[in-house]
Amino acid sequence: MDNVVSTVEELRTLQLDRMRWSLGHAYENVPHYRAAFDAAGVHPDDLHELADLARFPFTAKADLRDNYPFGMFAVPREQVVRVHASSGTTGKPTVVGYTRDDIDMWAEVMARSIEAAGGRPGDLLHVIYGYGLFTGGLGAHYGAERLGCTVVPVSGGMTERQVQLIQDFKPRIVMVTPSYFLGILDEMEAQGIDPKDTSLEIGIFGAEPWTEQMREEVQRRSNIRAVDIYGLSEVIGPGVSQESGLTQDGLHIWEDHFFPEIVDPVTAEVLPDGQEGELVFTSLTKQAMPVVRYRTRDLTTLLPGTAFPQFRRMAKITGRSDDMMIVRGVNVFPSQIEEHLLSIEGLTPHYLCVLTRPGRMDELTVQVEAASETSTDDDHARMARTLQKRVKDRVGVTVRVEVLAPHALERSLGKAKRISDQRPH
Ligand code: DLL
Repeated sequence: MDNVVSTVEELRTLQLDRMRWSLGHAYENVPHYRAAFDAAGVHPDDLHELADLARFPFTAKADLRDNYPFGMFAVPREQVVRVHASSGTTGKPTVVGYTRDDIDMWAEVMARSIEAAGGRPGDLLHVIYGYGLFTGGLGAHYGAERLGCTVVPVSGGMTERQVQLIQDFKPRIVMVTPSYFLGILDEMEAQGIDPKDTSLEIGIFGAEPWTEQMREEVQRRSNIRAVDIYGLSEVIGPGVSQESGLTQDGLHIWEDHFFPEIVDPVTAEVLPDGQEGELVFTSLTKQAMPVVRYRTRDLTTLLPGTAFPQFRRMAKITGRSDDMMIVRGVNVFPSQIEEHLLSIEGLTPHYLCVLTRPGRMDELTVQVEAASETSTDDDHARMARTLQKRVKDRVGVTVRVEVLAPHALERSLGKAKRISDQRPH
């Protein structure tokens, strides 16, 4: 591991120093933070101990959206060497930026993550996370190079070719969303390849929730040690926390760069370690886009460190406090679907997102009512195709669409129910 603190005491001292810097940096350079701190009656000088962080205001995804695209940057745009983006509720993505030092820190925490998973310099590492605005591909890539691996930057899709490259290049490590990896295992088996006979030994899986059952399934069908990686664009990307390949007991948070809190998702009250709630992060070293008490909406619990005793762990994410659906690693909100179905003549805003898992992968079926009693089956099929294409093009996911007769869906009396989760649990 890179040169990091080795005791909790050292870590707390470092965190307090860095937090002071980060709050000041945000306050001095981002109008949003200055206004939010002033409105809450706090100043960075009020931070005397780590617990004082609770006096500072939260940051939500809406704040990033309101400052779209570059308003949350704390450095001149010219010093930002890279942007990434993740899909948001309004169709406008959330934009994040990195200075050269930020990219360097990200590579360091990712290298640390891959090493914690069991990776070593010289390993061949196959990256299936998407390259592009999504942080998965490039985040994994820079970290693997930093550790000294041979990186194979394949990105997502073309399952047959993924299998071919695994057979030919013989990677030791694969980095991919767990749901897609199950599809790759299926493809191997369809081609008559026993996944146990491949070179793969470690799978670093994240970007979406996955269960212990899925871990067992992967490990039963292959000789792969399946470990969890977590992160989010707003905080850095992948590499915020990582499970040890030795202990496989939850994810160690790289707390020297990302300070975690758990709050009650409803009251926003800070909860003690060991209690489940919403995960909140404050960046400690990020230059281009510091985040202060960013509400992730992810639900988990903070636990004491094990493999890396100085760093607390987070339990596997159990769910989200809002309605974000994740279909094959792509974040989808009902409002994004709504936005597109409303642009199609003949469809109504009466719709429901049905999540199922018929095989290995999650599927999203959008049920939507037609406007007219007199539209034919052909009309319905045509509207369904149009919506499917629009969602694929604009949101980036393949959905099934069922156009139903008017009034076929249950109407709500209060808030509309937009998600029906019919996946087995
Ligand atoms: O998904 C970053 C990432 C890429 C992480 C590759 C791991 C591997 P976003 O697209 O901004 O960033 O989505 C972040 O995905 O708030 C969680 O809800 C979910 N998520 C990410 N990792 C995990 C995980 C990337 N290991 C959002 N378990 C987060 C459960 C996860 N959910």
